Amino acid sequence: MRNKIVVVGSSNTDMVVKVPHIPAPGETVMGSDLLTIPGGKGANQAVAAARSGGAVVFITCVSDDTFGINSVENYKKDNIDTSYIKVKPGLHSGVALINVADDGENSIAVAPGANSHLLPEDILNSRGAFEGAGAILAQLEIPLETVITLARLAGEMRIPMILNPAPGANLPADLLKKIEIITPNETEAAILTETREVSDESIPVMARTLYEMGIKTVIITLGSKGVFLFNSEFQGIIPGYSVKAVDTTAAGDVFNGALSSALSQGKKMKEAIDFAQMAAAISVTRMGAQPSAPDLKEINERIKRNIQ
Ligand code: ATP
Ligand code: RIB
Repeated sequence: MRNKIVVVGSSNTDMVVKVPHIPAPGETVMGSDLLTIPGGKGANQAVAAARSGGAVVFITCVSDDTFGINSVENYKKDNIDTSYIKVKPGLHSGVALINVADDGENSIAVAPGANSHLLPEDILNSRGAFEGAGAILAQLEIPLETVITLARLAGEMRIPMILNPAPGANLPADLLKKIEIITPNETEAAILTETREVSDESIPVMARTLYEMGIKTVIITLGSKGVFLFNSEFQGIIPGYSVKAVDTTAAGDVFNGALSSALSQGKKMKEAIDFAQMAAAISVTRMGAQPSAPDLKEINERIKRNIQ
């Protein structure tokens, strides 16, 4: 893979409340003051990729409200190419309502707003963004038709596409076979493979099922347990790093962003996964989505310290 990464996906502002526990249906829980934090799966992955050394072009759709305008300014500060971002007036930019519990777990509801207006034609009109790209990275917080168009374009232009299939959805086989690398968590893998019960035994089975659909590299992320990798060279667990989790929001996003940036810098798959797991482990020790993504220097120093 060459260096430029095109990230296509959502941009949100996260409205976060820290709570003692995630409220049960019908329950009201008193929480902390409101935290307003840059988020969105697409944006988090773009920021994580850029901070960890990738040259990132980000394609998203925001509105002309304060959240949208501030988001784009933030991406520029992270040296992300924002020239293909669509600004659609008169909507609201994406917002996520997030509860973060004392044990680091979360619950999230997303109001997609402008993200729903990132259309197939916007991908086709952004061909320049893809010229010379080494990888495309996408998720599912934008319309499915847009992701399908993106995968078709990736095939035509022979650019490897990494799909983080989050939030979970059952996807058409025709889309899946165009994907080079897929990175579901356990729940998302179960939805994709129509697996009823997730267990230690079902993880390799789900990974093989996705591999046999034509995806060359399947990486099922397993939270604090690491990842399960299935490709032609290796099938098994690669453990992650042990840390004290404060907020796991965007752990998957930081993993995906750092993975794509490591691959675009020429790292081999297992080394890239190790780099991405360190980036994600660092991120869970901090509050928030984008503020938690580490930079290249910090990731490399922590890996070095861990080896010594
Ligand atoms: P999220 O939805 O919280 O962003 P996810 O469900 O998409 O995350 P996970 O499998 O939870 O993805 O996490 C992705 C990667 O982040 C893991 O494979 C692991 O490397 C790292 N990670 C996540 N949680 C922890 C943790 N508690 N401690 C250390 N590493 C973690
Ligand atoms: O993956 C974490 C992200 O999911 C949050 O930043 C939130 O915006 C939702 O999109």
